[in-house]
Amino acid sequence: MRIPLIAGNWKMYKTVGEATALVRDLLAGLGSLSDREAIVCPPFTALAAVAPLLSDSPLGLGAQNLYPEAQGAFTGEVSPPMLVDVGCRYVIVGHSERRQYFGESDAFVNRKIRAALAHGLRPIVCVGESKPQRDAGQAEPIVTAQVRAALLDITSDQMTDVVIAYEPIWAIGTGDTATPADAQAMHAAIRATLAELYGADVAAAVRIQYGGSVKPDNIDELMAQPDIDGALVGGASLQAASFLRIIHYQ
Ligand code: 13P
Repeated sequence: MRIPLIAGNWKMYKTVGEATALVRDLLAGLGSLSDREAIVCPPFTALAAVAPLLSDSPLGLGAQNLYPEAQGAFTGEVSPPMLVDVGCRYVIVGHSERRQYFGESDAFVNRKIRAALAHGLRPIVCVGESKPQRDAGQAEPIVTAQVRAALLDITSDQMTDVVIAYEPIWAIGTGDTATPADAQAMHAAIRATLAELYGADVAAAVRIQYGGSVKPDNIDELMAQPDIDGALVGGASLQAASFLRIIHYQ
């Protein structure tokens, strides 16, 4: 009932020329996708160039961030309507890199989620614990608290458009992925939190992605876990061959 979502977060990589070349290579190897969904999230500067290549293709488009106002004097920021206008259907919100390097709070992440939903964008809401938090046995309470704070005032109806991405910070870009069992345990805890907030039906319908050193050689066992409904992929989404292998997980 949950259609898995594989998303490539390109972070601050790829010029316009590099982005369009990668998308062409992805489309050449993609085939048709019947039981899964795949999207790419290029940097803002490449969205307009990539969008026309993706129209009428099975590959979708997302952005990596937004500012939670429709327009205004917010120098350097990008609004939800601008992302919709350029063809985005998804937007990553609250990535740990934004929380860590740009000081984004749970409250600000919540504002961004509400702004995305108000404009018809599906937010991919990132949560995850640090290494010291995990070592202290605090991973689960910290992550479930992030989920509750992010979803403040989000309604059951809106939850059908929300994707959660569990990305343990210590696994991002390190090659040190969570074991499938540890990831599954956290995904189950997140789903239990969703059930408390919204009831069992909504909790069973929300997709929860895993992110953090997802690679061609670990995607299959991650996707075999019952509560892992996709992946948010950084480094391995920057080359067509590795991202295609991840999209085509077995
Ligand atoms: P890596 O796949 O490079 O570890 O990055 C994960 C991530 O942060 C995706 O948003």
